[in-house]
Amino acid sequence: MIRKAVIPAAGLGTRFLPATKAVPKELLPVVDKPAVQYVVEEAVRAGLEDILMITGRDKGALEDHFDRSPQLERILECKGDVTKLAAVRQASELADLHYLRQGEPLGLGHAVLMAEKHIDNEPFAVLLGDDLIDEREDLLARMIEAQAISGGSVVALMEVDPEQISAYGCAAVDVVPGQDYVRITGMVEKPEQECAPSNLAVIGRYVLHPEIFAELSRTKPGRGCEIQLTDALQSLAVAGSTGNGVFGVIYNGRRFDTGDKFSYIKAVVTIALERDDFGRELRKWMQEIVDISEFSGPSYMSGNSPFSNSGVFASKEASPYG
Ligand code: G1P
Repeated sequence: MIRKAVIPAAGLGTRFLPATKAVPKELLPVVDKPAVQYVVEEAVRAGLEDILMITGRDKGALEDHFDRSPQLERILECKGDVTKLAAVRQASELADLHYLRQGEPLGLGHAVLMAEKHIDNEPFAVLLGDDLIDEREDLLARMIEAQAISGGSVVALMEVDPEQISAYGCAAVDVVPGQDYVRITGMVEKPEQECAPSNLAVIGRYVLHPEIFAELSRTKPGRGCEIQLTDALQSLAVAGSTGNGVFGVIYNGRRFDTGDKFSYIKAVVTIALERDDFGRELRKWMQEIVDISEFSGPSYMSGNSPFSNSGVFASKEASPYG
């Protein structure tokens, strides 16, 4: 039975600067919850309550978020604000969280290798802290089952447009008759579109055989001069190697990469639209602003902008931006 998960969260978040200069990218809010809390909740839903987070310099706020906050809790208690009090406490009661700091950003493979002592020779999950998987899907449970049946390592795969494959690890696969998963015959980190063996991208969920640690400790720096998890998995995928092979579970559901600005905006809007408290109101407001932008078109430049208090909107109250 798999009990432990590793969440690598040591990356510098350079795609999201300047917002991530002082705030870890994993703590950027998706509506009112940090992205990484969705990831921790996903692990817990799959029965993984022992979670090791690999953090780094200037990432102390991650620990604070999942810790108790006595002063804040006292204030909320005095005010009788039970809803906010429950939300604040919930983050600290989610799971059994542990932390390790990666001294230098030497890559995802190196971050996972740091978990070796904590994991102690059993299969374990890795969840990347900025990948959001639809919480109605059971991707991790399917991967855990595939690991139990195959005895190897399992990655989550998703079809992407061929021109996007160079942003991902990419896998060549073979069908496994009668199973919900495929066998991976080769993996390459961020290939050029012309050299990619498929359009199946590795997304940020892995269930790994502990043999990965021995492989990672032999893995030389690869793409971007970093120790790549994909390269170690490629060695385990080669026929006859240790670790019982590498398999893929194909995911067709909704996924957001909150480390990417556009995908982050989509995550916030989509999840906000589904909220009971203001989803309907937001939908209405969005319909208004989309209609108005179509109506105004290039006349924004001539002062007819909904951002100004003239033209289309005579008063702030009437403006959907108000
Ligand atoms: C990492 C992995 C890559 C994977 C991706 C998924 O890359 O190295 O294989 O496809 O996560 O999000 P990163 O996005 O950290 O550069």
